[in-house]
Amino acid sequence: MCGIVGYIGKKDTKSILIEGLKELEYRGYDSAGIALLQNDKIEVFKAVGKIKNLEEKVLQNTTCCTNFDTLTLGIGHTRWATHGKPTELNAHPHLGVYSYVVHNGIIENYKELKEELTLSGHIFVSQTDTEVIVHLFEYYFNQYNDANRSFKETIERLHGAYSILLITKSEPNKIFFMKHGSPLAIAKGNDDGEIYFASSDAPLIGLANDVVYLEDGMSGVASIYGIEFSHSVQWSTLPTNKLFAQKNGFRFFMEKEIYEQKDVVVDSMMGRLKDDTIVFDELTHDILEGINEIKICACGTSYHAGLTASYLFERLSKIRCTVEIASEFRYKEPLLTPDTLFIVISQSGETADTLEALKMAKNGGLKSIAVCNVDNSSMTRVADATILLRAGIEKGVASTKAFSTQTVVLWMMSLYFGTIRGVLAKEKLEIELQTLREIPNSLKVEDKLHEKCRRLSKRYLHGHGFFFIGRDVFFPLALEGALKLKEISYLHAEGYPAGEMKHGPIALADPELFTIALMPQHLHYDKIKSNVEELSARDSTICAISPLPFELSDDFINTKKTNHYMLEFFEMLIVLQLFSMEISVRLGNDVDMPRNLAKSVTVE
Ligand code: AGP
Ligand code: GLU
Repeated sequence: MCGIVGYIGKKDTKSILIEGLKELEYRGYDSAGIALLQNDKIEVFKAVGKIKNLEEKVLQNTTCCTNFDTLTLGIGHTRWATHGKPTELNAHPHLGVYSYVVHNGIIENYKELKEELTLSGHIFVSQTDTEVIVHLFEYYFNQYNDANRSFKETIERLHGAYSILLITKSEPNKIFFMKHGSPLAIAKGNDDGEIYFASSDAPLIGLANDVVYLEDGMSGVASIYGIEFSHSVQWSTLPTNKLFAQKNGFRFFMEKEIYEQKDVVVDSMMGRLKDDTIVFDELTHDILEGINEIKICACGTSYHAGLTASYLFERLSKIRCTVEIASEFRYKEPLLTPDTLFIVISQSGETADTLEALKMAKNGGLKSIAVCNVDNSSMTRVADATILLRAGIEKGVASTKAFSTQTVVLWMMSLYFGTIRGVLAKEKLEIELQTLREIPNSLKVEDKLHEKCRRLSKRYLHGHGFFFIGRDVFFPLALEGALKLKEISYLHAEGYPAGEMKHGPIALADPELFTIALMPQHLHYDKIKSNVEELSARDSTICAISPLPFELSDDFINTKKTNHYMLEFFEMLIVLQLFSMEISVRLGNDVDMPRNLAKSVTVE
């Protein structure tokens, strides 16, 4: 999710907030805003699009906070929409009557809170989940006339992920803060009493030295007289390098995004993965009315997520599912029938071939869904419904967290469809829901595993090519592993169905042919094992990735024993991503911006 800044002090607050938001632009956003409080005057400015749009509004219209040396409070926000289109009205800060709030994350129980507050007479103006926070605070304050107690009771009612800053005319010298699931740091400024807040280090560097990186569940209230924390805190010293800070200390944005996967999949599931079912607020229950087939259309990594989903839709929703490469689909004169649900998958929402395919389906009278990471992108404006990944910006050209969140979202859709079609047994659903809850752990990058991939990579810098092989959903995973390697190492690689190797490609087997074999314990292990033995018998160099030992491999990456193939799927995804990245590093390539590639292919 996006970015938050805050300031208490006597400097030029609006400039501090604007410059702070600029330092958070790398996190991606679709709109931004700030609120300023001086004495008992509050001003708010919001704009869709780039920070400069906000800056122009602020510079043209600020009336308060123009005289410095007067205490001013300010909060700012860059938004990555999860609930409600990226419009000025939905941009943060959100106002109650006398208070403003900015929020990163998702309030899972916003619907019931909104209903409760509406019945109490609160008037909502935005489509966001966030707005319930400020109304809930004022609901309590109107009762208790005690801001500290009201803020505490407010945050106790919230479920989900949230980092929050709240300012209120009822306490014009204080900023209330809470951290739970989304990052938030608080720092002491270099001048007396100054306090800074930010979602990451970057906006703080040069302005402060001492920082607290709030832990989940930490809240409090700050003023120039000091900071009250809900728990004891550890002060640290800020780093000095902004780019290093923007990468959260990782070497590349791709590396940061690989490590982020365990966190962003939680956001993808939030409000959708319930105790005993899956819900999609974005879809109406009649979405499958008259539907007999799902057709998925995408490119590149998104196509691989679509292929993965096709196995899950047929297995769990019992609905026929075909997958098309968009650039092929557009010109094949496809047979389009209205009983087909058309799903496009796209991180950017701007890929030309996928967008045109979507328009063809739309013109053909098909119902359409966009599974996308960027709200208000072209595809979200064409599709009948959009399901956002909530992965946050993906800066690495080689897609990583988009793939994992796409797969999680599509897997949840297969369970949702299976449930509304009445073809998914309760016990089966329970197993799948429990497995989904364990996915973040499967995506956690263990140092030992990363080091293993790094060490192994030195042996795979040449050769006349790679085969990545797998069966079932591990075949599209093999395709994804091959694409990752090609994209950032420039070495040739093919993803292949393991059972298909004997129909020709095995002729390539020799010690210079590297085979990366995905050997999950819980999906056709014996089959994949015999396929790999065929290759090994012909002296191909084998790197096996498996929770089970495999003696015939030349190299072996041991993954965790689990009880579901999809847990194996996501851990092997991490291995493939790290393996490709470390090979690219050894070859001296630009990991984040590989040659010839663009992050979004908006041309045919
Ligand atoms: C994946 O690593 C590549 N960057 C590329 O294949 C990408 O997945 C493809 O261009 C589709 O992009 P989209 O998801 O934004 O539509
Ligand atoms: N869920 C909130 C919204 O959609 C916050 C999103 C964010 O973290 O930027 O406005």
